[in-house]
Amino acid sequence: MIHIEPPRTDATNGRIEFQSVTKRYGPTIALSEFTHCFEPGRVHALMGKNGSGKSTLVKLLAGATDPTSGTINVNGKDRHFTSPHDAFEAGIVTVHQELSLVPELSVGENIFLGRLPHKRRAGFRMVNWKGLHQRAAELLSDMGLSMDSRQPVSALSVGQQQVVEIVKAMSFNPSILLLDEPTSALASKEVKLLFALMERLRERGVTMIYITHRMSELFDIADTCTVIRDGHYIGAVEMKATSPSEIVGMMFGSAARTTRPPRQEIARSAPLLEVRGLSRPGHFNDISFNLYRGEILGIAGLLGSGRTELMRAIYGADRADSGTVHFDGREMTGASPREMRKAGLGYTPENRKEVGLVQALPTADNLCMASLGPIARKGFVSRRLERPYIDRQIADLHIKCGDPELPVSSLSGGNQQKVVIGKWLNTSPSVMFFDEPSRGVDVQAKRQIFDIIWHKAAEGLASIFVSTELEEVLEVADRILVMHHGSVVAEVDPTQTDLTQLYSLCMEGAPK
Ligand SMILES: Nc1ncnc2c1ncn2[C@@H]1O[C@H](COP(=O)(O)OP(=O)(O)OP(=O)(O)O)[C@@H](O)[C@H]1O
Ligand SMILES: [Mg+2]
Repeated sequence: MIHIEPPRTDATNGRIEFQSVTKRYGPTIALSEFTHCFEPGRVHALMGKNGSGKSTLVKLLAGATDPTSGTINVNGKDRHFTSPHDAFEAGIVTVHQELSLVPELSVGENIFLGRLPHKRRAGFRMVNWKGLHQRAAELLSDMGLSMDSRQPVSALSVGQQQVVEIVKAMSFNPSILLLDEPTSALASKEVKLLFALMERLRERGVTMIYITHRMSELFDIADTCTVIRDGHYIGAVEMKATSPSEIVGMMFGSAARTTRPPRQEIARSAPLLEVRGLSRPGHFNDISFNLYRGEILGIAGLLGSGRTELMRAIYGADRADSGTVHFDGREMTGASPREMRKAGLGYTPENRKEVGLVQALPTADNLCMASLGPIARKGFVSRRLERPYIDRQIADLHIKCGDPELPVSSLSGGNQQKVVIGKWLNTSPSVMFFDEPSRGVDVQAKRQIFDIIWHKAAEGLASIFVSTELEEVLEVADRILVMHHGSVVAEVDPTQTDLTQLYSLCMEGAPK
């Protein structure tokens, strides 16, 4: 059991007050004269579009960065955090937007990093490995997980890693817990478990700031919602007295909602991509399907159903044990990602930090990196040749980046996700694999990304679309394959299927 102490009574404990706080990064004002008090013992949702300053606010409270001006008062005292350690001393624990686990270490070691339990033997202090893994196993099972705490974090999916981050944060018994998009990689079962833990912390009087782009979650877990737009405080509302449309209105001013263009007839004569009997034991079995020009094929399934593993194997990032892949009539079985890219296939991975972007390079370089071939003239590249490619993606995807020559790491999470997509669209691919393309992007940006997928499909691009959010798969795809425990268990027509039906197929693996 995660040990949760009895409720606290001190009125200032857990109270967080921002007084006219400004944070500048060079010319960028990430937070502007922000004044607001987060009352203790409540779950405060923080909403705002990509790049509005949410993570910045969390980083200030976590001691990861310091304010340019203004005061932050926590537990009744003015604070000048100069390091994450300072914030930690004040009882503040943070789950940051980007994962921060050490991939080479085991799950248990990651949870107890920097505080490994010790025992004495023959006068020596030794790490108590058995105790560590026992304690980790207890914490994991408390989250409803049957994960082996001895396995390395590198063997886990992004969703599982996220869960480990949350378990780690909970294990500190915080008095203030900051959660920056903890659920963007989680399926509904894990989200429910997280909410159950948050409920218990709330009973104990813990103050929580919770960032998400999923509107429905706010109404499940939050007490209040604070909205921030372009670094400015816009307002705070009680969840009991508000509605999704009021919050969206506060986030965007007024927002035009795009709707899906009518589905087009797809000529299903000659497939563009043909997958036959593809297997990778332990991950997926005997997968066969065709993908046609202009088609958007959705793959639905719960976390761990094998969606990502399947796409990685088709794309050559992992090796399948048996089966074949043909593209445009050519055999591509076992081709490397590089050969796939050259042939005209693109892949936006679910984990942008590790495989999507080079964080230290400028946004501009990242946008051109996959398409050096087409951009280069006689083998030479220059910014002049690259410029139209850079400008087009920044404009089409509405990437908020100030100066594209700054490192891509200076972009907000959602804007980095758009750069991953822009980078691949610059290769003018004929097939795209989109793995969680809308992860961490705000509602408006999500519509822009979907619009681009639909628009490109009308021009002939064939896509595979994977999302943990089944509503999105239903809306975006022309046809859906359902995966369960590594097998395709159903193929459905999204116009003839509702959310409950799709959800139960994903859960149970068989039509009811
Ligand atoms: N280290 C940095 N250097 C330069 N600019 C930065 C840096 N960190 C953040 N910014 C800028 O500050 C602004 C706010 O970013 P922040 O990460 O707080 O947004 P966010 O609301 O969390 O967005 P998202 O929903 O996309 O995660 C953005 O314009 C971003 O580019
Ligand atoms: Mg953020």
